[in-house]
Amino acid sequence: MKSELKSMFTEHWKYLAVSTACKLNLFDKIHEGQNTLNKLVECNLWNGNTLSHLLNFLFITGFLEVDDDRTYHLNESANLLRQNNIDGLYYACLNWSAEHLTAWQHLDHSIKTGESSFKYLYKNNFFNYLSKHPEKLINYHKAMYQYALDDYKELPDAVDFSVHQSIMDVGGGYGAAISLIKERYVNANCYLFDMEAVVHGIFLNQIHKVAGDFFNYIPPIADAIILARVIHDWNDMEAQKILCNCYNALPDRGILYLIENCSDKTCLDLSLLSLNMIAMCQSYERSSIEYIRLCHKAGFTYLYSKPLNQLQTILIFQK
Ligand SMILES: C[S@@+](CC[C@H](N)C(=O)[O-])C[C@H]1O[C@@H](n2cnc3c(N)ncnc32)[C@H](O)[C@@H]1O
Repeated sequence: MKSELKSMFTEHWKYLAVSTACKLNLFDKIHEGQNTLNKLVECNLWNGNTLSHLLNFLFITGFLEVDDDRTYHLNESANLLRQNNIDGLYYACLNWSAEHLTAWQHLDHSIKTGESSFKYLYKNNFFNYLSKHPEKLINYHKAMYQYALDDYKELPDAVDFSVHQSIMDVGGGYGAAISLIKERYVNANCYLFDMEAVVHGIFLNQIHKVAGDFFNYIPPIADAIILARVIHDWNDMEAQKILCNCYNALPDRGILYLIENCSDKTCLDLSLLSLNMIAMCQSYERSSIEYIRLCHKAGFTYLYSKPLNQLQTILIFQK
């Protein structure tokens, strides 16, 4: 028991070592030919001693393979952590090692006060903070995009979007979900709605970008709205405001697709995800019943739900 506990205390070191390798672009460098300790030291003027310990950890844990001549090669997971791999998880990996980690270190503040430790530390809510730090905003959205490409790959099959002439992904980030839908349902008019700072710099093929604030106004331009992993960022009052604005933006009988991690619809344990939402956003992972209650309050009628993947559920509502 003691040895299990002692190992658990330092479990996060593994992630931090791997995210450090990402931060140094180590996997890209090895892939591009800096594939020995000496080459890495010479090309980057890094400390050979400390680097050898990191390389050793990456070898022991199976991220790297090494030849007899001490040449390193990437295995499959290391390959996914190259910045230049467009199907990879480089930004997703780095996402958890900055402000998220700091907020977690002050989780005791959230537990004592109910307030997000992120807000306590950074004096702002997470999304407003990002809009003031352009580089962090870009990296966060690249991370969300990498998660979303994988998480939403079954979305076009799970729902028959052909019944809609127009679909708007509200809080859609860099547009992974709506792009997957547009690829399949080529005749649908597709819109991506997000904050000005988010939509401003991105290019999306045949998807209209709409900049705005979902607490303020969502334009009535689509007969279906997708809200994916948005409501879980907000407390009940804020969630209510977003849902009411979605309701007002939809025509009669318009459809809302709410995609969330519903604690009662997955066999996975969401308690750590909830603690993360508490620390970052003063929110938590709700059950489907809680989401349905919030949507009813905004005026929606619940129709049915469908699993999207192991973690996420699509809850479908009508105006
Ligand atoms: C957790 S991310 C989800 C992104 C995407 N839907 C996904 O599932 O990967 C929440 C999104 O809400 C957007 N957002 C936050 N506050 C907003 C606001 N006031 N108005 C519009 N979008 C906002 C963020 O920019 C971000 O793209």
